[in-house]
Amino acid sequence: MRLQNKIAIITGAASGIGAEIARRFVQEGAKVVIADLNIEGATQLAGELGEGCMARKHDVSDEASWKALITETLAAHSRLDVLVNCAGIMIPGDIETTSFELFNSIMSVNLGGVFLGCQNAVEAMKTNEEGGAIVNISSTSALRCPTWVTAYGTSKAAVLTLTRAVAVHCATNEYKIRCNAVAPGAALTPMVQNLLDHDPDPETALAAIVSQHPLGRLATPADVANAALYLASDESSYVTGTVIPVDGGAAAA
Ligand code: NAI
Repeated sequence: MRLQNKIAIITGAASGIGAEIARRFVQEGAKVVIADLNIEGATQLAGELGEGCMARKHDVSDEASWKALITETLAAHSRLDVLVNCAGIMIPGDIETTSFELFNSIMSVNLGGVFLGCQNAVEAMKTNEEGGAIVNISSTSALRCPTWVTAYGTSKAAVLTLTRAVAVHCATNEYKIRCNAVAPGAALTPMVQNLLDHDPDPETALAAIVSQHPLGRLATPADVANAALYLASDESSYVTGTVIPVDGGAAAA
């Protein structure tokens, strides 16, 4: 049990990768707060995962929502050990087709949400005797950005810089809080399925995505969850300020 009795908040946990991270963490003994805009999905998963897990309606881009989430978590469990910033949105667009309004809304969730999450988690964890771990879900598009997701890739690249800054700040202030990121390749979650559903030729589009991953398949949510588990657990106690690509070699190709 690598997360025995650890208290973890996972944002975006009602669906896809976040939901799989929640399942994996519970298998390893954690008590998980499933925080998502989609409260129906979050409540359903909390029911599936059983006692110790709770669902909260949460908007990562809203500062007041973070304050409420942390307050409720501390009221229920007295401490916070792990935060996984997984909530994210992907809306396609290149530099010519992305309006400034769309750019700002993507940045507000994918980067602003992670910024607020780190800020609130550091505040909650810095007095925790055993410290804590923050895991930010970036993307392989942070390392190699396809032009059709310009705002998305930019937000995910900024998450890596934020991750390093939070990690070094916490280390130099002796807070015992580690902060790392995972950069997944494409996984067939509702986010990617939605893209394919809007493509005139989904089969060819899927094959094109697969071909960008040298290992010849998409990521599974479990692949990403295993990396998040490592970074959240004491097995990575000397690892901070870094990123683990889980992308079948996509960023290296
Ligand atoms: P998904 O669309 O299946 O799940 C995203 C979840 O985030 C949903 O439950 C949604 O309700 C929630 N969410 C969206 N905006 C929110 C907000 N403002 N506040 C709180 N919750 C919000 O997506 P998926 O694929 O599971 O993605 C999870 C993370 O992994 C995202 O950050 C995504 O960018 C990242 N990622 C996904 C990849 C993929 O191919 N699926 C590849 C690389 C990174």
